[in-house]
Amino acid sequence: MVEEEFERQSRSDIQIISFLTEYLRASGGKRVRPALLLLSNYAVGGRAAEHNVIRMAAVMEFLHTATIVHDDIIDNAETRRNQPSVNSRFGNQTAVLMGDWLYMSAFETSLAERSLPILDILTAVTRKMTEGELIQLTLLGRADLSEEQYFDILKRKTAFLFSACCEIGAILGGCSASEQEALSDYGMNLGTAFQLIDDLLDFTATDDALGKPVGVDLLEGKLTLPLIYLLEEDESKRAAVQTVMREGSYEEWPRSLLTRATEQTGALDRARRRANEFAERAKNSLDCLPPSKYLDSLLSIPACMLEREC
Ligand code: IPE
Ligand code: IPE
Ligand code: MG
Ligand code: MG
Repeated sequence: MVEEEFERQSRSDIQIISFLTEYLRASGGKRVRPALLLLSNYAVGGRAAEHNVIRMAAVMEFLHTATIVHDDIIDNAETRRNQPSVNSRFGNQTAVLMGDWLYMSAFETSLAERSLPILDILTAVTRKMTEGELIQLTLLGRADLSEEQYFDILKRKTAFLFSACCEIGAILGGCSASEQEALSDYGMNLGTAFQLIDDLLDFTATDDALGKPVGVDLLEGKLTLPLIYLLEEDESKRAAVQTVMREGSYEEWPRSLLTRATEQTGALDRARRRANEFAERAKNSLDCLPPSKYLDSLLSIPACMLEREC
């Protein structure tokens, strides 16, 4: 039903828009965010009309789609979901405008809910994601990025949107104040674990498995947690890290060498343990929710996330 709603919201008399939204929709994706909205809604009682819940679930996927379309321009990414990204296939100009269209359509659709609390959350999360990308830009190429700065960027880029999906689902479902807080915390912790794993996969996965280029974070000058920990353990690797970022190439220092160093120093395990920690926290956040199959699903998602390979 979310897929159908996504398709409905994508329809446009303007041919290029319907073509591009279909290009994006058909490329798939995990649809984690709508799933979180739906489960959160039903976990607190699911008191809203079904159509409204499906509509907001599609809105969250629209917002997510807008962020990845823009993110791929910012990151010069050529592939997304195993197909050419919008920017690489249709150009940056088209991608900027398509992202804008998706953002605004998401907001327009969400207005139908007539809910100021929901609009508050949507505008705040969109601003935070933009701030996250901007902060990241200003810190590109910095080998001295602190763990605190890293987590600040990560939360803004990813965790707030996860949290918003859960919180909006809960609001629609007619939650209590404590349930709203619980689901918002759950989403924050889960989103943090999710992006930590995404950053680990950039080291350990292959392009094909992930559907997007791997090893690119460092090439683009983004220091992620495994490397922050590596540099703490082994200062002698700083020059290598700086060289790869400066050159934008693994020619001098192969990716495999850096991955091995993060394994040997325990930096990769240490970063994985942080992801486990947030996944555990996510589950604990839900202590106050009544038992249901929806709660069971929410409780099982953190483990799936830790094991994911794409
Ligand atoms: C990609 O999100 C952007 C990140 C926050 C890492 P997803 O991994 O959820 O992307 P799709 O929608 O499944 O392709
Ligand atoms: C993820 O940014 C968050 C957003 C898309 C806003 P990344 O740049 O780390 O994600 P991928 O690796 O392109 O999916
Ligand atoms: Mg990116
Ligand atoms: Mg990015």
